[in-house]
Amino acid sequence: MRCEEIYRELYGRAPESVAFCPYRIAPLGAHIDHQLGIVHGLAINRGIHIAYGRKDSGICELRSLNFSKRAQFHVANIPEEKVGDWADHCRAAAKMLGEKYPLRTGIGGVIEGSLPIGGLSSSASVIIAFLSVLAAVNGIRLEPWEVIRLAKKAENEYVGVNCGKLDQSCEVLCRKDQLLCLDCRDDSYSLIPWTGKPFGIAVFFSGLERSLAGSAYNLRQDECKAAAYDLMAFSGRSYGKFSEAVLREVPREVFDEWKGRLPEPFRKRAEHFFSEMERVRLGSEYWKAGDLEQYGRLIFESGESSVNNYECGCPELIRLYGILRETPGIYGGRFSGAGFKGCCMALVDPGRAEEILAAVEDQYLASFPELRGKYQGALCASDDGVSLAGGDGR
Ligand code: GLA
Repeated sequence: MRCEEIYRELYGRAPESVAFCPYRIAPLGAHIDHQLGIVHGLAINRGIHIAYGRKDSGICELRSLNFSKRAQFHVANIPEEKVGDWADHCRAAAKMLGEKYPLRTGIGGVIEGSLPIGGLSSSASVIIAFLSVLAAVNGIRLEPWEVIRLAKKAENEYVGVNCGKLDQSCEVLCRKDQLLCLDCRDDSYSLIPWTGKPFGIAVFFSGLERSLAGSAYNLRQDECKAAAYDLMAFSGRSYGKFSEAVLREVPREVFDEWKGRLPEPFRKRAEHFFSEMERVRLGSEYWKAGDLEQYGRLIFESGESSVNNYECGCPELIRLYGILRETPGIYGGRFSGAGFKGCCMALVDPGRAEEILAAVEDQYLASFPELRGKYQGALCASDDGVSLAGGDGR
């Protein structure tokens, strides 16, 4: 690993250890985790590595191979407000962990993210990797759900993105070749083994990196809440605080009966929620049956709903999605993650992967020649979630 080499150059010795947290893809269940819907996800064999050694002074001295500025802070003295640089994710992790456990030991660390940023949930991945490192050097044993909740809180309350728990759950709970099916309302989940023919996971980077802070991610969530609130009121149901309104609390029949009264943007967001819930329900059945064609078809449909109903994406990502739909050998594909910028993912025929990567690249760069050198396609595989130092019995 490059982060290991850089650590050696900087500190003149080998790192004590290298932590790894995978990225995730979410084939179905886009943008419904924050509405307490049901989501699907897989961890992949790419992610964040941190080569580190402990610092008894409590200082965290961090470098990232993906960003230029070095960051330094004391593990027990995190600024109340985010600073505005890449290391906020690490400060956020330290702050949340420090609110539960006394932190005395810091680290010298070099962080390396595989693949460009955007769509694979590198934010949750860096937070979880850093949490696991701080826990290890401070002698704290973390349970999987504790990590998920701390990491989500770090992103919601410190970084300032109102994300749901999809990313963190995939990165912690997933197992190789098993699909995570998580109900975000009560945290019940199952890992559904794959029994069908082999498939590959391809990711296609638009060449536009993104961070959710500053995107329309939070706005879309407010629109979903507004739709939920309106539907409850139109139908004479009791409702609580606006901040707690979610579409999962609205029965499908209520939506069908009252949707005509919703302002168009709110109606479309709700349409996405209810149709995506149905795709996840059907998708679980197809996955169990090992039916890649049908599961893939649902992924394409989910992508279409993201474009037309949820209205995320940008011209580049929408074009990429269109190319995926037309490329032979692709079972299904869509924006990966939030999908404002970043990448698309697809489940592909592994025997045709090279041909698919080449065909998508040619067509995409014909539409956006200025993105040559920034665009990137890669073939990945499903993998286990993070392994937590100290052993968690998984
Ligand atoms: C981002 C968020 C997740 C989820 C996805 C969209 O990755 O962090 O919580 O909402 O977007 O499905």
